[in-house]
Amino acid sequence: MTGTCHLHELLQPHDVDRLDDSFSVVVVVVLLVLVSTTEAKVPAVIVFGDSSVDAGNNNFIPTVARSNFQPYGRDFSGGHATGRFSNGRIATDFIAQGLGIKPFIPAYLDPAYNISDFATGVTFASAATGYDNATSDVLSVIPLWKELDYFQDYQKKLKAHLGEKQATQTITEAVYIISVGTNDFLENYYAFQGGRQSQFTITQYQDFLAGIAESFVKKLHGLGARKISLGGLPPMGCMPLERTTNVMGQHTCVESYNNLAVEFNGRLSNLVVKLNKQLPGVNLLFSNPYYAFMHIILRPALYGIEVTEVACCATGMFEMGYACGRTNPFTCPNADKYVFWDAFHPTEKTNHIIADYVLKKVLYKFV
Ligand SMILES: *[C@@H]1O[C@H](CO)[C@@H](O)[C@H](O)[C@H]1NC(C)=O
Ligand SMILES: *[C@@H]1O[C@H](CO)[C@@H](O)[C@H](O)[C@H]1NC(C)=O
Repeated sequence: MTGTCHLHELLQPHDVDRLDDSFSVVVVVVLLVLVSTTEAKVPAVIVFGDSSVDAGNNNFIPTVARSNFQPYGRDFSGGHATGRFSNGRIATDFIAQGLGIKPFIPAYLDPAYNISDFATGVTFASAATGYDNATSDVLSVIPLWKELDYFQDYQKKLKAHLGEKQATQTITEAVYIISVGTNDFLENYYAFQGGRQSQFTITQYQDFLAGIAESFVKKLHGLGARKISLGGLPPMGCMPLERTTNVMGQHTCVESYNNLAVEFNGRLSNLVVKLNKQLPGVNLLFSNPYYAFMHIILRPALYGIEVTEVACCATGMFEMGYACGRTNPFTCPNADKYVFWDAFHPTEKTNHIIADYVLKKVLYKFV
């Protein structure tokens, strides 16, 4: 994708027609400059996190947290089920495209790609992981600390491939995206009464997770990262799986989970302010998808979406992973009409809207 294409996404032709005073012309010129310098400034997008940003790493480890089978990926290029938990691309793919780099970000463990591909973007993410080591243990996936080990391994390969100087420049100028946390609450804390719940109150657990987020960002900075986006939680009480279990609430969004997401996002936002003061040369941004996501759920028609309560896949009430994979006559024909693809993950359509929002509101500060 070129910068020009990105401009079309930012400004539709009818918007340009309306821009007639000189202030608006200045805005357009500034946008043009911003967009045309994008390619030069961001050499790579490097991703850490969970299923929101995993492009198939879990296909290469022994876990049931997988999605490399139909109908996953049916709207991806070639109808290919890559291991992304969606019908098509995920938000980080659209972000890489919007930054003028490439249309999708490959998974580090996928042998179909090599360092030539990874030099401009790579994801170390693993579906079902969390900040907490105990979360990655639930489905035997890659713990967050190990994603950093892979990043160190990547740096060695990058240096061998590009040479020390250019590799260091790539590492310094790259955009780093961290997207994780939902599973710590829904797959771990609230799923097991005898586990973290017996050790921490929910407030203490949030502090525990925020502490891990802090040390993760510090280690990443120590490894040379400077442009870092720390992602917030979505309205996780509105995921179809949570609605399904909300029988007393007549399948509305689980308000307590949404409130928890807002509260935890507040902690992450404070952390970002603090670390920007502490870490030399860092440009750390908080990317909060919560309100944009909520807007889609509350006003779906504005986005051409019709169904918010249930997912496209199977009955849409609880299936994900292998349960979604079984040939199911109920799977919807057009995922673009749905907010959610499976009971826990957004459709490509939703991913695209959120990615464009985050690019325009937050990540443009990196270019
Ligand atoms: C990566 O793979 C491509 C073909 O898939 C090949 O042309 C290229 O030389 C490989 N790069 C490295 C560094 O191995
Ligand atoms: C998670 O596990 C790693 C590796 O064993 C360890 O270094 C780290 O301290 C653990 N994190 C926490 C918060 O216990």
